[in-house]
Amino acid sequence: MSDQEVKTESRVFPPPANFVANAAISGMDAYNALCAEAANDYEGFWAKLAHENLHWHKPFTTTLDESNAPLYKWFDDGLLNVSYNCLDVNIQKGLGDKIAIIFEADGGEVTKVSYKELHAKVCQFANGLRSLGVKKDDRVVIYMPMSVEGVVAMQACARIGATHSVVFGGFSAKSLQERIVDVGASIVITADEQVRGGKQLPLKAIVDEALGLGECEKVAKVIVYKRTGGNAPFNPARDLWMHDLVANQATECEPEWVNADHPLFILYTSGSTGKPKGVQHSSGGYLLWAMLTMKWTFDVKPSDIFWCTADIGWVTGHTYITYGPLAMGTTEIVFEGIPTYPNAGRFWDMIQKHKATIFYTAPTAIRSLIKAADGDAAIHPNKYDLTSLRLLGSVGEPINPEAWMWYYRNIGGEKCPIVDTFWQTETGGHMITPLPGATPLVPGSCTLPLPGIMAAIVDETGADLPNGQGGILVVKRPWPSMIRNIWGDTERFKKSYFPEELGGKTYLAGDGAIRNKETGYFTITGRIDDVLNVSGHRMGTMEIESALVANPLVAEAAVVGKPDDTTGEAICAFVVLKRSRPTGDEAKQIALELRNWVAKEIGPIAKPKEIRFGDNLPKTRSGKIMRRLLRVLAKGEEITQDVSTLENPAILEQLKQAQ
Ligand code: WTA
Repeated sequence: MSDQEVKTESRVFPPPANFVANAAISGMDAYNALCAEAANDYEGFWAKLAHENLHWHKPFTTTLDESNAPLYKWFDDGLLNVSYNCLDVNIQKGLGDKIAIIFEADGGEVTKVSYKELHAKVCQFANGLRSLGVKKDDRVVIYMPMSVEGVVAMQACARIGATHSVVFGGFSAKSLQERIVDVGASIVITADEQVRGGKQLPLKAIVDEALGLGECEKVAKVIVYKRTGGNAPFNPARDLWMHDLVANQATECEPEWVNADHPLFILYTSGSTGKPKGVQHSSGGYLLWAMLTMKWTFDVKPSDIFWCTADIGWVTGHTYITYGPLAMGTTEIVFEGIPTYPNAGRFWDMIQKHKATIFYTAPTAIRSLIKAADGDAAIHPNKYDLTSLRLLGSVGEPINPEAWMWYYRNIGGEKCPIVDTFWQTETGGHMITPLPGATPLVPGSCTLPLPGIMAAIVDETGADLPNGQGGILVVKRPWPSMIRNIWGDTERFKKSYFPEELGGKTYLAGDGAIRNKETGYFTITGRIDDVLNVSGHRMGTMEIESALVANPLVAEAAVVGKPDDTTGEAICAFVVLKRSRPTGDEAKQIALELRNWVAKEIGPIAKPKEIRFGDNLPKTRSGKIMRRLLRVLAKGEEITQDVSTLENPAILEQLKQAQ
């Protein structure tokens, strides 16, 4: 990667005066002072924050245990409960009647739940789970729509020390089954149906299908939230309705006090090889960082109406819907639907209606709404009153400067800072991001690491690279909210994140990055492994390839990403069939079949946008597929590289054409 690859952006937006005056971290001096504090006494820095911010049932005495690195432990001899910190602590502070969640359903109905009410719901559900024998360390799979009940289910697990594993409602029965089996779940919580964009989509039927695929004998009960009352299958011997389970339960529930490193959740994410990885997160360190990033990055204040548009099936929904905002006693919006229903003004309408002050979404959503606003003046953001907003956020993928500027002007009215937050499922919370009261913003840059996060750019041997030179993004010291393990696969954990080549103790993010020569600002240049980022969703190319070759028609498949104006990257698959290469209408027909096949194997988010058929794939003489060349072909560019090492250079010509 060279300096030229990153276009220099010269626009700079200093923090607005009102932020500098009131922000948790006010001005670059305050930021630098915190960074210096962390550098001078790393453990002392974190210990102080953990004592100040969390309620400990029994305080910890050891801050960081590195004796078994990279299996780090933080605050582990301390006892706490995450749900107690989110609910009871805030009620004790007098926030019982404050609205915790403003829920807006797909069709527009609004339900408001106070902290006291949420506490009662969580306790009842936690008691219900206990009545079924669920206890500390059991794993519970949650396959639910965006709903108050989804948040309640997660918090209820936390309350009794059960470890939840949320599976995004867009995943197929097969993906769900793989996760149920891998995590060893004894309970599945779901809904009869989910409602998105005016359509009712099955959830319970998919759970039944998943359980029918085998190896799920451990699942003793399926708890069903009645969302629509639609026609979902129901097996009274195994299934029970959520409303029946909670009906006679007490509204108080003694929390299970757990060690700080007790696994709060396991969330599956795509890696470069093989099956999705169960990223295991802690309780204490994770919650601490969820709270600190709410304060530092979002500068959240008691009067804020916070809206994170992510789904609880992804890490962003965990940290910035279920845990961070509630731990801070914030009022937040939870939205069931999609940004384009009933029209593409839905987000702007909801900001206006609920007077949202902080809005956090993904660049993909912004880019698709720009297109929609350009095409239909009636839903242009300038038709809505968005003056309640004071801060905007972006997450999940790089935000291109054009989209940044549109967001800044049209949504933020040129007065709201944008925090471009770089982080990952594995990091638990933000890692590199501007601070709204301190950092001058540069469109397209996530700027600087948060205090305490020792991010750096190194070469393949782990040697530091100077600013201006692109390399591998690493974090040199463990931090409290980091991934603790890959569920059931410590070896893979070590190999994926703490490779020997980098000394075995440096966290490898899997992204490339470059720092600006003058400012030291970070720009993320994209994944360095075989992970694609499609609409902010992480997809492993190997996963999609495995799904394709599982189809009886397919002999071989190679999947690469290609740049896409809306989704960031799009999936492009090169496929060799067992029979001869199809062309014309037949190729179209088979491509359609294969796309639907992948949707069934993994989920609709993994459908290739484009499928090209060849007699073969470009391979080296040792049989290795040259993905590098396929990426060039997918982009529609001419191949300029040397192809003399190819076994079959002629194949490139055939694969050049999109079908
Ligand atoms: C990418 C989502 C550029 C990156 C929270 C990372 C980003 C992957 C940004 C993690 C950003 C996330 N700028 N790239 N602000 N945020 N990414 O695990 O490639 O779903 O490794 O976590 O998304 O995706 P994940």
